[in-house]
Amino acid sequence: MHTVFRLNNGPEITIRPIRPDDAGIEGDFVRDLSPESRRNRFLAAVRELTPRAIERFTRPEYPHEQALIATLQEGGAEREVGVARYAAEKGKTNAEFAIVIADAWQGKGLGTRMMRELFDAATQAGMRHMEGVVLQGNRNMLQMVRDLGFRVEAYPPDPELFYVHIDLPLPYAPTNRTGDS
Ligand SMILES: CC(C)(COP(=O)(O)OP(=O)(O)OC[C@H]1O[C@@H](n2cnc3c(N)ncnc32)[C@H](O)[C@@H]1OP(=O)(O)O)[C@@H](O)C(=O)NCCC(=O)NCCS
Repeated sequence: MHTVFRLNNGPEITIRPIRPDDAGIEGDFVRDLSPESRRNRFLAAVRELTPRAIERFTRPEYPHEQALIATLQEGGAEREVGVARYAAEKGKTNAEFAIVIADAWQGKGLGTRMMRELFDAATQAGMRHMEGVVLQGNRNMLQMVRDLGFRVEAYPPDPELFYVHIDLPLPYAPTNRTGDS
């Protein structure tokens, strides 16, 4: 899967699966996030990813893990401007997702687009359910997931968080064509 598009006549953006050789741009991307975006994404005061975390993030294990990144060309180099990922326990179809968009690219529709592509990728990989937790004050994220059809519920283990979840469609809906000749 590899899509190329523009948002409001902006530069060309590519959404594609992450690769092990993206370690450099993935590390730069997280380092350049604002403290607020990092806190909303990691729910903690993460400043930068450890080499071990980068290694794990750039080598998702298909089909129970996948990660998509959005990139653009800047000064002759590829720059990451968003990442959306899911991970499930091996053999399970309940996937936990996470997403973060570069601060300068938030509010332009990129997050919504990445979530839709992640849904498709997860569905094709056999996932049936997406879930996550969101800080209660994260209004942009709550708006986005509501628009995407997620249900937003209380999360009793932590009153600072909401639990958000959605069922994914079946990948290949069987067509019932009994009687066709
Ligand atoms: C939450 C986040 C992923 C949304 O991605 P995004 O690309 O900014 O969202 P979109 O542009 O697709 O917007 C979707 C909706 O959310 C709302 N929204 C999102 N970002 C907004 C912003 N910066 N300002 C105003 N509204 C915003 C809008 O209502 C928008 O709906 P609209 O298209 O009808 O206006 C992104 O803002 C982000 O990375 N935030 C920091 C990390 C984070 O919170 N991750 C989620 C962890 S659970």
